Amino acid sequence: MELNLGKFNIDHYAHCLVVTDGNLQQLYNITGDNVFIIPRGEDAKNFDTVKQLCSWFLQKNLKRNQTVVAVGGGSVGDTVGFACSVFKRGVRLLHVPTTLLAMVDSSIGGKTAIDLDDVKNAVGSFYEGDVLLDTDFLQTLDDTQMQNGMGEVLKYRMLTEQVDEVYLQCGIEDVIWACMNWKRAVCEVDPIDENYRQILNFGHTIGHAMELTLGIPHGLAVLNGIYYETLLAYKLGYCNKQYLDKWQEEVTKIANVCPTLTETMLDNTIYDKKNDNDLITFSFPCKYGRTQLPLDEVKRLLLGK
Ligand SMILES: NC(=O)c1ccc[n+]([C@@H]2O[C@H](COP(=O)([O-])OP(=O)(O)OC[C@H]3O[C@@H](n4cnc5c(N)ncnc54)[C@H](O)[C@@H]3O)[C@@H](O)[C@H]2O)c1
Ligand SMILES: [Zn+2]
Repeated sequence: MELNLGKFNIDHYAHCLVVTDGNLQQLYNITGDNVFIIPRGEDAKNFDTVKQLCSWFLQKNLKRNQTVVAVGGGSVGDTVGFACSVFKRGVRLLHVPTTLLAMVDSSIGGKTAIDLDDVKNAVGSFYEGDVLLDTDFLQTLDDTQMQNGMGEVLKYRMLTEQVDEVYLQCGIEDVIWACMNWKRAVCEVDPIDENYRQILNFGHTIGHAMELTLGIPHGLAVLNGIYYETLLAYKLGYCNKQYLDKWQEEVTKIANVCPTLTETMLDNTIYDKKNDNDLITFSFPCKYGRTQLPLDEVKRLLLGK
């Protein structure tokens, strides 16, 4: 897969099919006969949109060597990526991520997904596209969307000094570039998420459970997940108090965390895809390999129950 830094200009993609959402079409004047608009946000991630996309691909006589360009956040990327993976058993794909979260996370690693029967990401595939990074898109993001992406950036900072050093010394474009390249390297080692790649799940066990319970955006849920999973690592003796304080403070510099972790939130960790044999699976930056704990033990450590 190719990862390039550049400026997105719709005129350069006249020979491709371009898919985006209504917000981005308006904000960035993405128009033309070769442009298809899908619903914004999570509303796009379903079989209806995939069917509409595939019908449009047929109507446009899309060839396997032609490229589909997905301009948008993770929702556009996940949906268009899935449609591209199944249409004619795979057509070329270029991601142009427009949110911070999509830049540092969802455009890299080849995971595509749509939702089904209220189950998020129930159906999907591994299908990698090339990526064009254009950080000009950040200019129209609001504070919440930036915080959402910064949750994943903090995860990378904790996982690798390579990103943390860039974060402490350079500007946002370099930080994004460092996150993308590091994630790409991890995914190359383990393309279908069998083992090594699971380090990327730090913050996501409790994060996903909070996303499900509170309905908050993914990156903000991960930020909460990082806060509470670091506390769990401390209670397990995997890190010292200084480490805990430092990283919890970094979390609160980005956004306020949900002040109370409830039993219902922790109960929702049982739905995590990484679990096996009823054990809740965690992956901590300060401890090599995965950690599996019974739910009762997690509750005892975090809630004192
Ligand atoms: N495939 C993966 O590896 C992976 C990883 C993480 C998250 N995801 C998925 O990504 C989705 C969330 O993606 P997201 O956080 O990027 O948001 P999103 O794609 O859901 O978009 C949220 C809103 O932001 C708007 N938007 C996008 N770019 C904008 C810009 N530059 N300026 C102004 N508004 C803009 C969109 O129009 C939309 O209304 C979730 O469905 C999640 O499951 C996938
Ligand atoms: Zn994530």
